[in-house]
Amino acid sequence: MHLKRDLEMTDMRSREVDLLVVEDNPADARLIELLLSEVGGFNCRRAATLGEAIAGAGAEPPDAVLLDLSLPDAHGIETVERFRAAAPALPIVICTGLDDESMGLLALQHGCQDYLVKGQGDGNLIRRTILYAIERKAVEEERRATAERLKRVLLQTVRSLSLTLEMRDPYTTGHQRRVAQLSTAIGRQMGLSDATVEGLRTGGLLHDIGKIHIPAEFLSRPGKLSAEVHKVIRMHPQMGWEIMKDIEFPWPVADMIRQHHERLDGSGYPLGLKGDEIILESRIIAVADVLEAISSHRPYRPALGLDVAIQELRDHSGSRYDPAVVRACIAVVEEKGVGILDEDAPPPL
Ligand SMILES: [Fe+2]
Repeated sequence: MHLKRDLEMTDMRSREVDLLVVEDNPADARLIELLLSEVGGFNCRRAATLGEAIAGAGAEPPDAVLLDLSLPDAHGIETVERFRAAAPALPIVICTGLDDESMGLLALQHGCQDYLVKGQGDGNLIRRTILYAIERKAVEEERRATAERLKRVLLQTVRSLSLTLEMRDPYTTGHQRRVAQLSTAIGRQMGLSDATVEGLRTGGLLHDIGKIHIPAEFLSRPGKLSAEVHKVIRMHPQMGWEIMKDIEFPWPVADMIRQHHERLDGSGYPLGLKGDEIILESRIIAVADVLEAISSHRPYRPALGLDVAIQELRDHSGSRYDPAVVRACIAVVEEKGVGILDEDAPPPL
């Protein structure tokens, strides 16, 4: 990756930089072009409006853009927002008559790479600023691509872990994925942030990972569970927490797992937590888990169906389950049907 960027930069130094000067004042534009022609290395083309700039950048993307913040069809930071929306990959140096430090910082926060004030500095300064902006943008893009890749790898790893458990227990194949799917839909219905919803997906995919500790014959044993088997199965939230607690997820995944069998009235396990002591993510996964489990087949009983699952949630809303979560869950199922459980099937790994 770095080698590719080094080669690009070498290429940039050996040819002229294609610069789009977005400036409505012809005298200002001419001055910039004159200063840059004196230092050399630039091929300047001009746009007098934001519309022209966006069209020009789209037709033939330049190496960099020198952007005035005061144009006939756009003003201030809105200029940056609209240009970036149209051409997010281009390095932008703001060039404005406003001698305003805070506007410069604001432009950087909105994704620009640097800031020049008209009439300040010579051609060398403009040249250095543009070359630096191009390099900085390349680094930013590289970081963004790496972060995206890591995010994908994390999700693929989580899905693989999830499948590892389900391969031992064919009766619950797809259970964690469906709980993840329903949990994220409930989270969205409740208006939670994208980050929290992503965390719910991970927590849902792994919520039963502690069952890896349960002997396989216990998992698929038909008929009613004995007290002994029940006791071992009830250890899975704690075992899941033990497995996940040292992974630095950006979400409280280990706690989501440990608390997914806790109940609002303190009747759950393993800790007997009550109400808000249970994190919201676990209150959501608990509801999704109950709905999915009751409406699906289990070795010790046939599927009871969606209506029975919803009745269980309604009967115990406020005692076992968070009423806001139950409301959101029912809204999701009523709106999208039970098919919600099988949306977003992962690609084969
Ligand atoms: Fe569970």
